[in-house]
Amino acid sequence: PSSAVTSKSNQSFIDRMKNENRQVLIMYGSQTGTAEEMSGRLAKDLTRYSKKAVVVDPEDIECEDLNRLNEIEDALLVLCIATYGEGDPTDNAVTLVEYLNAGDCDLSGVRFAVFGLGNKTYEHFNEIGKQMDQQLEKLGAKRIFQMGLGDDDANLEEDFMIWREAFLPKVAEEFGWELNTEAETMRQYQMEPVEEGKALFKGEFGRLGAYERPRPPFDVKNPYLATVAINDELHTEHSDRSCRHIEFSVEGSRIRYEAGDHLAVFPTNDPALVDRLIEMLKFEPDRAFRLVNVDEDASKRHPFPCPTTFRTALSHYVDICAPVKSHVLKAISEYCTDETEKEFLNKLSTANEEGLKEYARYIVKERRSIVDYRFVTQTERGKIAICAVVTKYTIGDRLINGVCTRYLTKKEAGSKSPVFVRKSTMRLPHRTTTEVIMIGPGTGFAPFRGFLQDRQFHKNAGKEVGAMHLYYGCRHPDHDYIYKEELAQFQEDGILTHLNCAFSRAQEKKVYVQDRLWETRDRIWTAINAGAHVYICGDARNMARDVQSTLQKIFREIGGKSETEAVSFFKEMEKTKRYQADVWS
Ligand code: 2AM
Repeated sequence: PSSAVTSKSNQSFIDRMKNENRQVLIMYGSQTGTAEEMSGRLAKDLTRYSKKAVVVDPEDIECEDLNRLNEIEDALLVLCIATYGEGDPTDNAVTLVEYLNAGDCDLSGVRFAVFGLGNKTYEHFNEIGKQMDQQLEKLGAKRIFQMGLGDDDANLEEDFMIWREAFLPKVAEEFGWELNTEAETMRQYQMEPVEEGKALFKGEFGRLGAYERPRPPFDVKNPYLATVAINDELHTEHSDRSCRHIEFSVEGSRIRYEAGDHLAVFPTNDPALVDRLIEMLKFEPDRAFRLVNVDEDASKRHPFPCPTTFRTALSHYVDICAPVKSHVLKAISEYCTDETEKEFLNKLSTANEEGLKEYARYIVKERRSIVDYRFVTQTERGKIAICAVVTKYTIGDRLINGVCTRYLTKKEAGSKSPVFVRKSTMRLPHRTTTEVIMIGPGTGFAPFRGFLQDRQFHKNAGKEVGAMHLYYGCRHPDHDYIYKEELAQFQEDGILTHLNCAFSRAQEKKVYVQDRLWETRDRIWTAINAGAHVYICGDARNMARDVQSTLQKIFREIGGKSETEAVSFFKEMEKTKRYQADVWS
């Protein structure tokens, strides 16, 4: 994602805007690169009006400089900002959001618009975008277009297409810009050949040779090449799915991690897919090239680490599995010689009713493959373990593989993989005696394995430890009951005091974790009332919601609370971190 950014100079973005006569500032809050990519597209859109924007990663700037934005005549601030996790800003936008929320920035005279990226299955849908949209107005800026609410659960690309299609003319009208039809086909990057003997990027992200000579700190721009220590199957032969337990050795790296953190893994694309693409495009796979931004003042000189070869770029740096974005289809259409195909590509990439419908059907619904990031770490000395259900399904006769899980399945012990640890906020209580209730069906159990190990460590060190309840669910005890033996051991050791399993497909009627919660409601209420912490991890779409409403039902029926009291009791638990969630969809 944001790895290829090379900060040009120490010049403030305000000075750049002044010196280069640019009035539009686009900032993004991006976790995996979507908002960043959309920002780039918005910037490119402006060239239709012969205008240029400055696009910045808020992590690379001094936020206080925003106070000077009104020194620019007709300044327009566009925020393309995602909401992550439980209504949080993305890592790169934390400081920006804090700064704006502090309320000390004067944005009077500035105009603004916000496009938010979120997901409706989460409780705090587009929370950060909404917050910023309100806050910018409070700081004196003038909203020139209504906020866009991108929903990744439905069709984010479509939401974006519709928004920008309406947004642009509005901006032009506001500033009296003229359309320049000739500028439309401008390429963002120009391909350049590379001199013989030049050192090439071979899959590293930050700097050349980053894997041979690793240098901390390790993060999204500088992953650590960890060694796969273990890669085991967790499901039995009766299961029709696969779930891998993978341990990465990070010994000697000084990477720190705690139970509950996330491990990000940088996958390599399926070599078969890469080969197919190379063949289709008639690329010479080992030819060295470099893509250079035609906008000399852009902060991002290359879209990915350059110089490199076609094969490396297609294997490591570009996403060839996600549904194709509309602007890519548009670009391809320009090279299309078959008139019928050209027309179809044009239709697909046009933001009108027909085009959007066709895009949703043909691209999103039928072609989508999923990049799966659904793993959480567990801890042992020098080793970080993750577990992941392998994504694999068919649409028609096409087999769709999850990019990351396909890659991980093939990783043998001893092989290497770039990773970094992302700090999470889900943490065990400070006091080892505090009772905890963990709800984690399927791979949602992953962080709780770390929690159990943590408490075991303290117990072995002679500390007193509190009761631990686990609500675990899977389909069938003989198929996908992962870490069964370990759980039995934790019980025997007196760490896991209450194990409650819900096997959904072992009997006629479905039994889920929330059913087990309800059965044990008296015990749950007593524990919560006495200060227990509650944790939930796993599916956000249905499970997390159902569990929440079961908990509130317990607060009402056993705790004797009214409807509103139960809701505010729950909110209070969330606020005081006595209820913590790490859910995904
Ligand atoms: P199912 O697939 O048989 O419906 C882990 O994925 C477990 O979570 C499975 O047993 C799955 O059951 C179950 N599950 C599915 N939907 C759920 C929900 N809404 N609440 C709790 N568990 C659910």
